[in-house]
Amino acid sequence: MKKILEYLLFPTVTINSKTLSKEVSTKTIVITGASYGIGEELSLLFSNYKVHLVLIARTKEKLEEVAKKVIQNGSKCTIITADLYQETEVEKTIQSLKELPNGIDIFISNAGKSITRSLEKSLYRYHDFTRTNALNYLAPVQLLLAITPVLEKNKGKIINVSAINVLLLPAPKWAAYQASKTAFDQWFRTNLLEWKHMGIKGKTIYLPLVRTKMILPNENYTNYPAMLPQQAAIRIANLICSTKNHTSSWWSIFPRTGSFFGRYLWENVDFIHPKNNS
Ligand SMILES: NC(=O)c1ccc[n+]([C@@H]2O[C@H](COP(=O)([O-])OP(=O)(O)OC[C@H]3O[C@@H](n4cnc5c(N)ncnc54)[C@H](OP(=O)(O)O)[C@@H]3O)[C@@H](O)[C@H]2O)c1
Repeated sequence: MKKILEYLLFPTVTINSKTLSKEVSTKTIVITGASYGIGEELSLLFSNYKVHLVLIARTKEKLEEVAKKVIQNGSKCTIITADLYQETEVEKTIQSLKELPNGIDIFISNAGKSITRSLEKSLYRYHDFTRTNALNYLAPVQLLLAITPVLEKNKGKIINVSAINVLLLPAPKWAAYQASKTAFDQWFRTNLLEWKHMGIKGKTIYLPLVRTKMILPNENYTNYPAMLPQQAAIRIANLICSTKNHTSSWWSIFPRTGSFFGRYLWENVDFIHPKNNS
């Protein structure tokens, strides 16, 4: 059953190699969160197109492993080890990015942290909120403010790797993640026209559940249908090549319509403790 749902919800997409090659070869592409999951898959995908990849994450050994494969596939690779929770490390990363010899053509804001926790279990965990905010919202803002002039020079592109949750009614237990991803999405969309004026294109992908280590801590998700990270990477590459500003799964129209009309129901019917409704 899970396989059938995955087949329907996440149909396999392919890449048009010729179009992607035209779009990215010889370009400098920065990917945050490139050591695992979607960022790693993106790095491997782009490495087939003779690009210069700049990979950012905390785990040095894993970045080196990805870099080795990138180089074997014929591309150039620079790694930046940084903990983007720390403002000072974001500053250092910015300095390294500003020193790149050919500037930056594509910046993919992908590093992220997810937390699912009830309000009751969050009462003494304010740090859940400062951490998700630091990584999912403030770090990409700090990076993008600093490199907008660099991107302007190359008429570059920025990709926001976001989540479908951002487009839907807020789900219980997702406060930290959803608030931080939504904050960044709002900031990002606020700037789109000004970036356009500078010749920079901003694009967002609203991803569904993707089978990466991010979803491992939540046991329930092992049984849910999820997209493969390779497929998420192909969808991001296709977005870069397309004229669209944003993309999400074909079926997202249904929960989005439900979210538009269903606020009263969502906020008044207790789906978590159904007995409270009587
Ligand atoms: N998986 C999903 O279901 C899903 C759904 C919708 C959207 N997304 C979004 O997709 C993006 C990628 O997620 P993923 O599923 O690929 O997650 P993942 O497999 O957990 O990878 C997260 C990446 O972010 C890096 N990272 C985490 N904390 C960091 C920090 N403090 N400083 C620097 N880098 C850090 C990790 O590397 P290190 O640990 O080495 O630092 C890793 O490379 C995220 O923005 C996420 O919100 C994911």
